[in-house]
Amino acid sequence: MSSQDVITVIEDVAEMKAYSNALRKEGKSIALVPTMGALHEGHLSLMREGRKRADILVVSIFVNPTQFGPSEDYNKYMRDREGDLEKMKNIGVDAVFMPGPDEIYPPGFQTYVQVEELEKPLCGALRPGHFRGVATVVLKLFNIVKADVALFGQKDYQQWKIIERMARDLNLDIEILGLPIVREETGLAMSSRNAYLSDQDTQRALSLSRALLEVKSQFANGTCKTESLVDSGKRVLERASVEDVDYLEIRDGETLQNKHEATGGDVAAVAARVGGARLIDNIIL
Ligand code: PAJ
Repeated sequence: MSSQDVITVIEDVAEMKAYSNALRKEGKSIALVPTMGALHEGHLSLMREGRKRADILVVSIFVNPTQFGPSEDYNKYMRDREGDLEKMKNIGVDAVFMPGPDEIYPPGFQTYVQVEELEKPLCGALRPGHFRGVATVVLKLFNIVKADVALFGQKDYQQWKIIERMARDLNLDIEILGLPIVREETGLAMSSRNAYLSDQDTQRALSLSRALLEVKSQFANGTCKTESLVDSGKRVLERASVEDVDYLEIRDGETLQNKHEATGGDVAAVAARVGGARLIDNIIL
């Protein structure tokens, strides 16, 4: 693992473009890891892979206002500039792009990207406009950083599929990679939002990954009816008193369409509120 003392911090769009253009002229390839900061091992796993995939590794840190609903946690989303920089130095990140909101959305901004079908189910149904904000900012980041490859986590499964689809549909010259979910030893999927959990909530939150494992083991034992599989997962959540469940569903792994009968490659996905936090997790059958 390489580590470097100097990390180039770039806050404006013109400077980021100039940095990338100069490197591309030299024939260097660029990997991009888009994040909202408050970095944890899940983010760092993307950076380690990005480090291997290209000559230059750029990380963006931008808490994107257009993907937060009016009642969501935009203002209280964790921001830890110094801690994040330290973690990125240890990995050998070359440059971090951390623009302010006005730099990305100047007055008069009005152009958005919508991935029409994939954004409808699951989180899209409960967070109107969320994936429109995600797709828009990610396309902007791709255009600004001009990366050859971008890395995303399967933790945000629907987001990953939406970005893949956008890249294909809009003929972007960028390779999209989806990397496995990084978990705590307990099975809890790592998330910046886990910081909102009390000790007691953390215990309850473990039932999300357990519910998905239950679905997967029922499927492995021959149960195919999605209704029965979903019921078995929901019982695990109920036993842990996780009552505020946004969804627990099984969907086609590529199209995210509903299924009556599950097949290998489908995704079981869950979203629930535990304490003050909205948590998501998923597993591939
Ligand atoms: P953020 O939540 O900061 O996540 C940045 C990237 O890290 C995403 O690709 C996410 O899937 C990945 N990630 C988060 N937790 C992970 C885990 N436990 N294991 C593996 N990967 C994990 O997702 C966003 O930011 C934003 O929507 C963004 C794409 C940056 C657009 O604003």
